[in-house]
Amino acid sequence: MKPEETVNTGLDGVVATSTSVSCLDTVAEQIVVRGYDLIDLATHAQYLDVAHLLLFGSLPTAHERNGFAEQIWNEMSLPEEVETLLGLVPPPMAPMDVLRTALSFLAGFDPVLRENTEPANREKAVRLLAKLPLVVAHGYRLQHGLPTVALDRGIGYAANFLRLMTGETPSSEAAALFDMTLSCYSEHELPNSTFTARVIASTLSDLYGAMVGAVASLKGPLHGGANEAAADMLVAIGDPSKARAYVLDKLGRKERIMGFGHRVYMRRIDPRAALLEGHIEPLAQSVPGGVELLETYRIVAQTMRDEKGLHPNADFPIGLIYHLLGIPRPLYTPIFFVARAAGLGAHVIEQHAQNRLYRPRAQYEGPRGLSVVPASEGNAQ
Ligand code: COA
Repeated sequence: MKPEETVNTGLDGVVATSTSVSCLDTVAEQIVVRGYDLIDLATHAQYLDVAHLLLFGSLPTAHERNGFAEQIWNEMSLPEEVETLLGLVPPPMAPMDVLRTALSFLAGFDPVLRENTEPANREKAVRLLAKLPLVVAHGYRLQHGLPTVALDRGIGYAANFLRLMTGETPSSEAAALFDMTLSCYSEHELPNSTFTARVIASTLSDLYGAMVGAVASLKGPLHGGANEAAADMLVAIGDPSKARAYVLDKLGRKERIMGFGHRVYMRRIDPRAALLEGHIEPLAQSVPGGVELLETYRIVAQTMRDEKGLHPNADFPIGLIYHLLGIPRPLYTPIFFVARAAGLGAHVIEQHAQNRLYRPRAQYEGPRGLSVVPASEGNAQ
C-alpha cells in the first residue's frame, strides 16, 4: 500500500461494487429494491412476489405467480440423507450452525451445483427458498426430540414456514405479519453477509459456497443475531416500569442495546422498523403478556431516542413479533437467513454475471527486517 492511501477500517463508507438489486437511499429514506420501495412491496405484495422480483427482475404476473408457487412447492422436500444428518445434530449446536452444515451438505444433491450461469444460479436459489424452511424447522424439532411437521398444501409459504416451526397452523393475520417480516428481511443492499457472499462468488465459487459463508456472517450478534438478543432483552426487562432504568444502566456501562443503530442509517429511522412497529399492536393484544411487552418495547425505544438519538433497526420489532408468534428463540436468525436467501441469490447471480475478483489491500503494521536464526543456533523455545 502506498503511504498516502488511507485505511478505511470496517470499509465504512466504501462503495465496493455497483448493483441493480437494491440500494439504501438515505436521502429519500427508502430501501429501493429493483426500482420499488421495499416498504411498498412489504405492504402490498407477498414475500414470494418479492423473491420473484429479486431473482427474475420483475414482479410476477398472476400466471407467473402461480407457476412460481408451484415451482417452490415441487421443491419443498429434503433428500433423505439431509433429514438423517439433521437427526444427528448434537443438542447444543446452534441452529445457525445446523443451517450452515445442512446447507453445505445440500449442495451435494444439487444437479447444477457447479454451473454459475444465470439460469442455473436462479434454479439453485429457488430450490433453496423451498428447502431452507424445512432445514430450519425440521433441524430444530429433531434436535429437541419433537416430531417434524407436515406441509399443508392449502396454506401459503409464510403460513407453512410458521407451521413447520411451531406445529400449529397460524391465523391468517399472524401469517400475513410473518410474511411482511420476510419481505422486510429479503434484501438490504450490501450488509456484511451479502458482501461476504459476493466476495466468495467473485472467486467463481458456487452459489452454495457463497450462501454458506453468508450464514456464518449473519450469525454474529452485530448482524442477524440482534433479533434474538432484542427479544431476550424485552423478556428480561419484564415489567415496563423497569424499562427506562434497564436501558440507562446498560448505557451507563457502555453496553449496546441490541436492535438499535445501523452503519448506514446511523441516527436515521430504519423504514422497515417504522413499518413493522405499526403492525404489532393487534398481535400483542392477542397474546397473554403481549401488551406489557409492547409497552416495554416503546419505553426502550423512547429512552434510546432521548439518550443516544438512536432508532430501532428491523431486528427490534421483528424480535418482538417472533416472540409473540411463539417461534422458538434460536430460530429467529435462521428465519432471517431464509428470507435473505432471495436477495443473496440475486447478488450471486449479479456477481457472476459482472464478475471482478475482490482483492483489497491491507496496511502492514508489523515489524520488518527480521533475520531467521536457525533453531540449532539457540533460537528454539
Ligand atoms: N446501543 C448503544 N449505543 C450504540 C448502539 C447500540 N445498539 N449502536 C451504536 N451505538 C453508539 C456507539 O456506542 C457509538 O457511540 P459514541 O459515538 O458515543 O461512542 C455510536 O453509536 C456509533 O457506533 P459504532 O459502533 O461506531 O457504529 P457502527 O456503524 O460500527 O455500528 C452497529 C453499527 C449495527 C454494529 C451498531 O449500531 C450495533 O452494535 N448495534 C447493535 C446490534 C444490532 O442491532 N445489529 C443489527 C444491525 S441491522
